[in-house]
Amino acid sequence: MPSTRQVFTFLALASLTAAAPVKEADRKLRKRDTLPDYAITYAPLSYLYSGEKWFPSDITTHLANVEPEEDYTAIGTNGSVTLDTLDSLSSDVYLTASDGPILDPLDGTPAWLSSDYGIPDSDGLSAAPGLIIAAEKNSTTTDVFYFYFYSYNYGGKVLDINFDDHVGDWEHVMIRFVDEEPYAIYCSQHSAGSAYYWDVVDFSGDRPITYVAYGGHANYVTAGSQDYTIALGIISDTTDAGYLWDMTLNYRGYLYDVDADTFTVASGAGTGATEEADESADWLNWLGRWGDEEYPDGLLDDIETGQYCISSECHYTSGPTGPVDKNLERTTMCEDDDDCTIFDNIDDLTTQS
Ligand SMILES: *[C@@H]1O[C@H](CO)[C@@H](O)[C@H](O)[C@H]1NC(C)=O
Ligand SMILES: *[C@@H]1O[C@H](CO)[C@@H](O)[C@H](O)[C@H]1NC(C)=O
Repeated sequence: MPSTRQVFTFLALASLTAAAPVKEADRKLRKRDTLPDYAITYAPLSYLYSGEKWFPSDITTHLANVEPEEDYTAIGTNGSVTLDTLDSLSSDVYLTASDGPILDPLDGTPAWLSSDYGIPDSDGLSAAPGLIIAAEKNSTTTDVFYFYFYSYNYGGKVLDINFDDHVGDWEHVMIRFVDEEPYAIYCSQHSAGSAYYWDVVDFSGDRPITYVAYGGHANYVTAGSQDYTIALGIISDTTDAGYLWDMTLNYRGYLYDVDADTFTVASGAGTGATEEADESADWLNWLGRWGDEEYPDGLLDDIETGQYCISSECHYTSGPTGPVDKNLERTTMCEDDDDCTIFDNIDDLTTQS
């Protein structure tokens, strides 16, 4: 059902059509349905790690293998949630793996979690659609978000102990366009990320190169080893030019209206386009979690789930919220508007190997 605001916008547009030359109204309406060309022209080309084990996933496949839980109690069955019903769920819901806890992720995860079907082919085409969301900030500035979804996040090891595994993993790269020209690029990395001026990153033709780290899927602009700190010490992220993933070959496209806080479907490509033709954009409004709730840490629980927590770090953490919760309305280049530096060289914060 259209919201009051949509109805109002429709009426406003209708009166505009009556008053203004038809062509102008046509242009505006058309503009609402498609992503700007520059969103595709300058889209990142991403490399998954050569030894990656948890590949890009189609969100519909993910939904087919989870059940909604609230407070560790199932409120629906395996596969009962679809993209069409997602937004009717409470934001307290966790989409929980129907297979149960993954006791040893390195010793094999169910096929839908490792998502081998999402391994890109030699052209960079993944069967798992990406997500591209354009958010116009004002008359000069538009932020285009490239969202990467994986069904499993393997968190890595500190002193040979594995932390921060979770079901569901949303990561993103954002490119800010000013007057339709790329200005800077932001890469999500764990709870934060890094921004760089456009000219300083590496390109293939017009397109910036990004690297996706093994397991945890943080995004970087350089290959090699990248260190990040958790409470217990250092975890090294590993990236290389393993599998080229060109999201523009297969994606669902959306526009995000920053003022109205609404999403609309914009044309996609590949299976993403086919699938989204029958979908609405409403699922993007859902604020719940795309994976299991962090398992309790207690002796009996631990035997059942493999959970352990040391200091504030746990083996299994809660699944993430979706794109709507990644500060799409940001004014700075970063997800955290209060802590944002745009680097003018790509050697900052990274350790080349
Ligand atoms: C959940 O449903 C999917 C799709 O029908 C099926 O492949 C999978 O085996 C089911 N999982 C469980 C644990 O029953
Ligand atoms: C447009 O938005 C960007 C991002 O918030 C801001 O930096 C810029 O000053 C704004 N420009 C105008 C003309 O309002």
